[in-house]
Amino acid sequence: MSKALALVVVLFFVLFCGKCYGELRVGFYKGKCGVTNVEGVVQNVVETWHFEKKEKDIAAALLRMQFHDCFVKGCDASILLDGLTSEKEATPNKSVRGYKLIDAIKEALEAECQGLVSCADIISMATRDAVFLAGGKWYDVETGRRDGNVSLASNVNLPAATISVSDSIKLFASKNLTQYDMVYLLGGHTVGIARCSLFKDRIYNFNKTGGPDPSMSPWLLAELKDKCPRISLIFDNTYPLDVKTPSLVDNSYFQEIKKGNGVLQIDQQIALDELTKNIVDDIVNDPDFYTKFGEAMVKLGRVDVLIDGQGEVRKSCRDVNKKPFIFGGLN
Ligand code: HEM
Repeated sequence: MSKALALVVVLFFVLFCGKCYGELRVGFYKGKCGVTNVEGVVQNVVETWHFEKKEKDIAAALLRMQFHDCFVKGCDASILLDGLTSEKEATPNKSVRGYKLIDAIKEALEAECQGLVSCADIISMATRDAVFLAGGKWYDVETGRRDGNVSLASNVNLPAATISVSDSIKLFASKNLTQYDMVYLLGGHTVGIARCSLFKDRIYNFNKTGGPDPSMSPWLLAELKDKCPRISLIFDNTYPLDVKTPSLVDNSYFQEIKKGNGVLQIDQQIALDELTKNIVDDIVNDPDFYTKFGEAMVKLGRVDVLIDGQGEVRKSCRDVNKKPFIFGGLN
């Protein structure tokens, strides 16, 4: 290749591919669905569901869905596939919500442009829209993901609330995410709820001591004792992860964990552990938390994606396009 040609190629990439990551890019669907603005269709459905309150706290539902999708076989919408032994049947996914909203978005998109928009991209676009509606900052999402066609509950190895900070850092690093990304992403706990059974040990029998976790503030301890009785045979109550503004995407989660008001063990620990406490301190005083949260979400959306000719674009987010002939079910 002549030097001049090489220069032209380099210039092309600098000018036109400034926002590319692999094959993912901002605006992948632009101009691919006639005059229809694909991202606008997604946004319309999310707004309708948000304002008509068709599902509670959509931002919480979708943030968790995106995390659980991307951390198991990458952001390939494998979490959406139905099946007796598919990912959604694994214990940590039983309380994931938002599947019907994704169906509604897929239906609206298929009506405009059949077979164009992947379910994996729908998750990341819809999550961004829901975060924005819940008070977060708008961020550009990269698109161009394709959908996977394997979904097995046995692949689901998501972290428990009791994971240590150092193990969590290792886990995120295995997905090309730094400890900064990890702390910002845990900021997803600025919305939503957790079931008492997942943190009850912290109230009544922390590390088998017969007493509470000493890092918990007296206020939170009293609150949790009230809402999560030691013995509750029928109901598993819930408590907000951000004790102050549970429906808003803001940095109050970080302010609260600094005060000992982290509900899950990992939430409290990132504010105390030497490996992450400085990051938490910085975020508490950072007016630009919102931008950085968006940036971390974009990085989450890059985890082990299928691109180009890999995978497929599903017709229904709940089912693969062609079922292999396997006795006993597909997934
Ligand atoms: C070490 C990492 C993480 C651990 C151990 C963890 C653990 C948990 C647990 C135990 C719950 C409560 C589930 C239930 O009650 O059934 C939860 C809820 C939630 N998580 Fe995480 N999480 C982690 C990272 C993340 C990340 C990275 C995000 C998003 C960016 C996220 C978003 C959420 C949201 C929004 C909820 C509330 C869901 C709802 O209200 O339906 N989590 N998480």
